[in-house]
Amino acid sequence: MPEPNFATITLGHTNLVTGKRVHEIEIPSFGLGVWQMSEGGECKTAVQHAISSGYRLIDTARSYANEYETGSAIFDSEVSREEIFLVTKLRRPHATSYEAVLDHCQISMEKLGMNKIDLYLVHAPPEDIASRAAVWRGMEECLERGWTRAIGVSNYGAHHLDDMRSYATIMPCVNQIELHPWNQRPALRAATEAAGAHVMAYSPLARGHKLNCSNLAKIAESVGCTPAQAAIKWVHDTGAITIPKSSNPNRIVENLESLSIDLKGTESAFSSMDEVYISGWNPTAEP
Ligand SMILES: NC(=O)c1ccc[n+]([C@@H]2O[C@H](COP(=O)([O-])OP(=O)(O)OC[C@H]3O[C@@H](n4cnc5c(N)ncnc54)[C@H](OP(=O)(O)O)[C@@H]3O)[C@@H](O)[C@H]2O)c1
Repeated sequence: MPEPNFATITLGHTNLVTGKRVHEIEIPSFGLGVWQMSEGGECKTAVQHAISSGYRLIDTARSYANEYETGSAIFDSEVSREEIFLVTKLRRPHATSYEAVLDHCQISMEKLGMNKIDLYLVHAPPEDIASRAAVWRGMEECLERGWTRAIGVSNYGAHHLDDMRSYATIMPCVNQIELHPWNQRPALRAATEAAGAHVMAYSPLARGHKLNCSNLAKIAESVGCTPAQAAIKWVHDTGAITIPKSSNPNRIVENLESLSIDLKGTESAFSSMDEVYISGWNPTAEP
């Protein structure tokens, strides 16, 4: 089996009462996203192929409706559960109250077949603004009870993170956001870091929408890799954890191999590609 060639990153949560970093854990800087993989075997096959190719981080969510296959792929793989970092997310319609968070965290664990999640995320800022504090208290309780090793958020804008300072005891260790060469988000990256959280980049290929981009093709040719590899490596080089999705066995390996590509000399070409492109939803801009 190939040795994983990604780095690990230390995540931590800032305790707003003591000012200390608590609940520190290590996460691989690269992994597989499983959104849009069906439970008819597609998800299980892809996750098992990824693990046997060297992946050690898998990103799922309740809303992807594949927690069961994701968990069973991990348990049936040749790697122990402890070596895999599993992320799942509290579905937005479930993010309504403290009790709902506890209930849905337990349901996710049941579906995954796991007694502990590695990182549990609020999928997007709860739509009912008044429930955000209670939802986060529920997340903190999941951490305290040992149901998850770390907690974070996804699709939080700078103002959502700032608001957390008024109701959180501990701040999130991650903000998972859309990030790729066509939406480089310097302000949101800075706000995430200011909150003590690490950026986790989703849709590094802009969901595949931009793989025909001529600027990307030129960069890829200049460094001798595929366009997808150049985009993924650019995201990884920003320091973000990234989780490209593929259910194609060759592309699963191709994406992992992007980590050994050297993009030196392409910095200004990438800088000029930002067009603030949103590939799907953008809850970061909501109130
Ligand atoms: N928190 C959130 O709100 C949120 C939102 C979106 C995504 N995510 C997470 O981030 C993960 C990745 O984002 P994403 O799924 O939106 O999009 P993505 O990773 O940017 O792109 C996936 C698309 O690119 C194709 N692809 C993958 N590798 C390729 C390659 N080497 N060459 C050509 N095409 C390639 C895939 O098709 P094939 O499968 O056929 O290869 C798929 O159509 C998700 O799976 C999910 O875990 C989170």
